[in-house]
Amino acid sequence: MTRLLISEGTVVGATGRSAADVLIDGETIAAVLAPGQAEALGITADRTIDAAGKYVVPGGVDVHTHMELPFGGTNASDTFETGTIAAAWGGVTTIVDFAVQRAGENVMDGLADWHAKAEGNCAIDYGFHQIIGGVDDESLKAMTYLVDNEGITSFKLFMAYPGVFYADDGQILRAMQNAGESGAVMMMHAENGIAIDVLVAQALARGETDPRYHSLTRPAELEGEATNRAIQLAKVAGNVPLYIVHMSASEALEEVAEARHRGQNVFAETCPQYLYLSLEDHLAQPGFEGAKWVCSTPLRSKHEHHHRDLWKGLRMNELAVVSTDHCPFCMKDQKELGRGDFSKIPNGIGSVEHRMELLYQGVVNREITLERWVETCATTPARMFGLYPKKGVIAPGADADILVWDPHGHTSIGLDAKHHMNMDHSAWQGFEVDGKVDTVLSRGTVVVENDTFTGRAGHGQFVKRDLSTYLL
Ligand code: URP
Ligand code: ZN
Ligand code: ZN
Repeated sequence: MTRLLISEGTVVGATGRSAADVLIDGETIAAVLAPGQAEALGITADRTIDAAGKYVVPGGVDVHTHMELPFGGTNASDTFETGTIAAAWGGVTTIVDFAVQRAGENVMDGLADWHAKAEGNCAIDYGFHQIIGGVDDESLKAMTYLVDNEGITSFKLFMAYPGVFYADDGQILRAMQNAGESGAVMMMHAENGIAIDVLVAQALARGETDPRYHSLTRPAELEGEATNRAIQLAKVAGNVPLYIVHMSASEALEEVAEARHRGQNVFAETCPQYLYLSLEDHLAQPGFEGAKWVCSTPLRSKHEHHHRDLWKGLRMNELAVVSTDHCPFCMKDQKELGRGDFSKIPNGIGSVEHRMELLYQGVVNREITLERWVETCATTPARMFGLYPKKGVIAPGADADILVWDPHGHTSIGLDAKHHMNMDHSAWQGFEVDGKVDTVLSRGTVVVENDTFTGRAGHGQFVKRDLSTYLL
C-alpha cells in the first residue's frame, strides 16, 4: 500500500486548526501527527507532499448536484464524468446527486437509472438522494426499502413545479410520516408552486417574457410561506428532520431560525449564487443574457438584504450547509429554449467547481471563519447526510479525501480562466477570488496537482449512506 505524508501544513477542521502532518496509508488517513513526530517515530512515506504555508482541509462534500438531470425539455449538460472532474478541480471529493422518480414511475427504476448513469464514470465518490415526484403507496414503501437496503437515507419533495415534481400537502405529510418511521431526512424545495404558476401566467399575458420575470414571479414571500408550511407539516408528522434546500430569501431564513429556536429538527442550505449574485446585476442583464442565471429558487434583489442575512445565517448556524445545486445548462440549444418565454428557460446554474473557492472568499471578507468554511462545505454536509466520519474530517480512519489549499494563491474564474464544467458560459465569469486549489486527494489518490487533473473517471465509488448524525 502506498504511504503518503502531507507535511508541514496547517490542518483545519470544523473546530480548530493546528500545525500537523497527515499520514495516509492506501485509501485512508492513518495518523495526524505533530510536526516532527513522523521523523522521531521513524515513519517513512513513499511520497511527501509539501504543504508548508498551506491549509490541509477535508475534501469538499457537495450534497446537492444534478448531473445529467432531464429538466425543462433537455438534460443538465454535465455528465457524471465531466461534472465530477470539474468538482475535483474545485477541491470537492464527494457529491450527493438526486436520483429521480416521477408520478407514475417506479422508484427502484429511477434509482437503477441513476446508478447506470454514474457507475464507472465518476472521478470522485458519490451518493444519491432520491427525488419522490409521485407520492403514493408504492413510492412510500420504496422509501423505507431505500433507507434499509440501498444507503439512500434522504428524499427530496417539491412544493414547486406543478405537473412535474410537485407534491401537495397531503402527500408531503404522508412522506414525512414515512421518513419519521425510517429515520430519513426530508429535503424540501420550498416555493409555493401553485401561486407561482398564476403569477407566471399573468406576467406572460402582459408580455413580460424576459429572464428577469423569473424572479419577479417567484417572490420571496412565496418561499417564506412554503418554508413555514413545510416546517409545520414536519412538526405534525412528529418533528421529522426537515432540510430546506437552496434557500435564497430572508423570509425563509426567518422561518427556519424560529423553528430551530423552538427546538425543531429543521435545517437549511444555501448556495454560492444566493450569497453573491442578484436580480439586478445578473438575471436582469440586457436581452436574453439573464437566462444564464435562471434558477429556482431565484436570484433575489440586492436591495432587500438577502445576501447580508444569508451570510449572517451561515455564521449563526441557522444555515448549516453550503451546497451548489449544480444544474448546468448551456446557452446554445438549452437556455435558448426559453427565448421569448422565461418560463421555458431550463432552471439551473453550474457551480460545482467553484463552491470552495467562492466560500473561501467569505473567509477573506470576514463573513465566516476558516473553520466555518470547512464546517459548512465539508463536515456538516457529511454529518447531515450520513457520510461522517468516513467523509468530512481529517482524522485517523477517515477516507483520505483531502484538499490542500493555498491561501496565498489567486483564482480567476471564467471561460478564459478556470472553468472545467461542461458549459458554454460561466455564471461566475470574471470573479476573482483569493486562494487556490493546490492539491486534491480522493481516497489517497492525487486527482489534482500542479494545475493538472491526474485522476480518472471510474475512480469514484458509490457510497452507501447511514442515517444522519446531525439531528437535534
Ligand atoms: O434551478 C434549479 N434549482 N434547478 C434544479 C432543480 C431544483 O429544483 O433543484
Ligand atoms: Zn429544488
Ligand atoms: Zn436542485
